[in-house]
Amino acid sequence: MKYAALKGMEDIIAPDIEVWQAVEAAARDIFGRYGFQEMRAPVLESTDIFIRGIGQQTDIVEKEMYTFTDKGGRSVTLRPEGTASVVRCFVEKNLHTLPPPQKLYYIGQMYRYERPQKGRFRQFYQIGAEAFGVAAPSMDAEIIMMLSNILQAAGLSGLNFEINSIGCAACRPQYRQALLDFFGGMINEYCPDCQRRYEANPLRILDCKVPRCIELRQGSPAVKDYLCADCRTHFEGLLAILDSFGVSYTLNPNLVRGLDYYTKTTFEVTSEHLGAQKAVAAGGRYDRLVEEFGGPATPAIGFAIGMERIVTLLKESQTLGPKTPKVFVATLGSAAEMEGMKIVEALRAAGVWAEQSYGSASLKSQLRKADRTGAEFALIIGENELNSGMAQWKDMKKGGQGEVAINSVAGFFSGGIRTDE
Ligand code: HAM
Repeated sequence: MKYAALKGMEDIIAPDIEVWQAVEAAARDIFGRYGFQEMRAPVLESTDIFIRGIGQQTDIVEKEMYTFTDKGGRSVTLRPEGTASVVRCFVEKNLHTLPPPQKLYYIGQMYRYERPQKGRFRQFYQIGAEAFGVAAPSMDAEIIMMLSNILQAAGLSGLNFEINSIGCAACRPQYRQALLDFFGGMINEYCPDCQRRYEANPLRILDCKVPRCIELRQGSPAVKDYLCADCRTHFEGLLAILDSFGVSYTLNPNLVRGLDYYTKTTFEVTSEHLGAQKAVAAGGRYDRLVEEFGGPATPAIGFAIGMERIVTLLKESQTLGPKTPKVFVATLGSAAEMEGMKIVEALRAAGVWAEQSYGSASLKSQLRKADRTGAEFALIIGENELNSGMAQWKDMKKGGQGEVAINSVAGFFSGGIRTDE
């Protein structure tokens, strides 16, 4: 009998886990500076939370949820995304009684029963953020700039920010009607999914990737011509702020998003290096969702980053930031072994990855072990080194070597020697 992880669900182990941790640390650091607090919601929620939040007629709710009946006969679902849970918590915990804005972030697994392919998994991680209580476009701009800063701090560059406004409850019905009129006569020629979307949510036809549908929808009404004064002022305000901060973006009038809760601003960050699943992050405003969940009218906006996709990009581009090297301490003789252990502890206390050989072995076998552990440097201490107070170091990757005073090893390595220059 062979055991294997479920299809579309992956173990994340070394060496990749280090990239994950570096990205998470970069995100936490930036979130902290923008005043976002972490929240940890359950991965399992009552199914109606997602139906209510994401929308009955979305792909996620119709086809992709891991829904089952628990032993108490309740319908429960593994969260397919984070926003609905955060809003449920916001209302349940009365966070609207606290002074706005309330800024929350989360890092965790999401579950969607999709067909696995490159960049698409059934269990995937998101780093998400949600800000409640501010209707002004300055919050949209802050969210977009914070997202850009997180992606940059993680080491990514060359990404495209696509932005759109899909209007609100006041102006969307007119736009919807204009689309229905436009698609109406020809709807039988669209793909079966679009024919379904025609009834449920004709905006989503704009998002269809089937070549024939793209061709057919040429010249369809543009949402910008249907925005009400409030939505137009909001969108222009946002773009003006982004322009004044030199944030580059592309306007994408077809960016309608696959979740029903959005109002006004929608955005997506894409990379040309990912193939079909090219969105690395996405989000938007959802000014009505808190009310839908029984809370007071509260404007809100947020985003989620797809971790697997940015880790793929980082591994391909190898643009991880400077880091302290991994050090293996090899010792010869019991006196040196004791000294070596002290150095290993001092290195660890200084924030450096350090490993030792645990017991006596020849220098050759210790260096082989150092290599196997992935250490970038070996520090060698024998009787001579103890007497002179100087340890030998060896660059395991590039072959260089030198000496360092035994009592200053921790400072020498914790300064962040770059091994990739
Ligand atoms: P979403 O567009 O469904 O939005 O997902 C956000 C990101 O999660 C995507 O851009 C992608 O990078 C990643 N992602 C989605 N599905 C998968 C998958 N099956 N495998 C790997 N990565 C995936 C949301 O989830 C919204 N809750 C975002 C949001 C927050 N809007 C407002 N606040």
